[in-house]
Amino acid sequence: MNIRPARIDDLMGMQACNLQNLPENYTMRYYLYHALTWPQLSYVAEDHKGRIVGYILAKMEEDIGTEDEPHGHVTSISVLRSYRRLGLAKRLMVQSQEAMATIYRASYVSLHVRKSNRAALSLYKDTLGFTVKDIEKKYYADGEDAVR
Ligand code: ACO
Repeated sequence: MNIRPARIDDLMGMQACNLQNLPENYTMRYYLYHALTWPQLSYVAEDHKGRIVGYILAKMEEDIGTEDEPHGHVTSISVLRSYRRLGLAKRLMVQSQEAMATIYRASYVSLHVRKSNRAALSLYKDTLGFTVKDIEKKYYADGEDAVR
């Protein structure tokens, strides 16, 4: 499986993958905003026929206070069910994090994840070494808390 930077013509495939995998969905305008503003930070995983089987949609945090250092933010990551546990999400995260650090001098990366999402929490905490900053109560539309 190949990992490469996302192009504008990948955005429909990324959106289709997101719709299959997550209840948090975004307008095509928001995908385009990411791709046009931070073209180096989003990546796709493709199969041997070039079909998108996973993606990471990422950006630099825009809403930072004067005290805060520049940091990246993962808007969304997912991998199609039959391609999971192959290390694709890890590779997508690492590639994006490297680009955030080298191109934008990001000193850390933030994200939100559902409190109940065991797979993603394990990816972030156990595999990638993220730490929990706080819990954002009722962050999600259905009232679930987010781990940040
Ligand atoms: N149970 C427990 N740990 C898991 C699981 C799981 N089902 N899946 C991954 N992990 C952990 C393991 O530590 C794993 O390492 P190991 O395989 O050596 O044990 C590590 O994560 C790396 O796994 P990958 O193979 O890289 O992860 P994968 O490609 O399967 O993708 C993902 C993980 C993205 C969470 C996938 O399950 C998915 O698409 N889920 C639905 C969408 C989703 O929840 N996305 C994250 C939402 S939060 C956000 O977008 C910011």
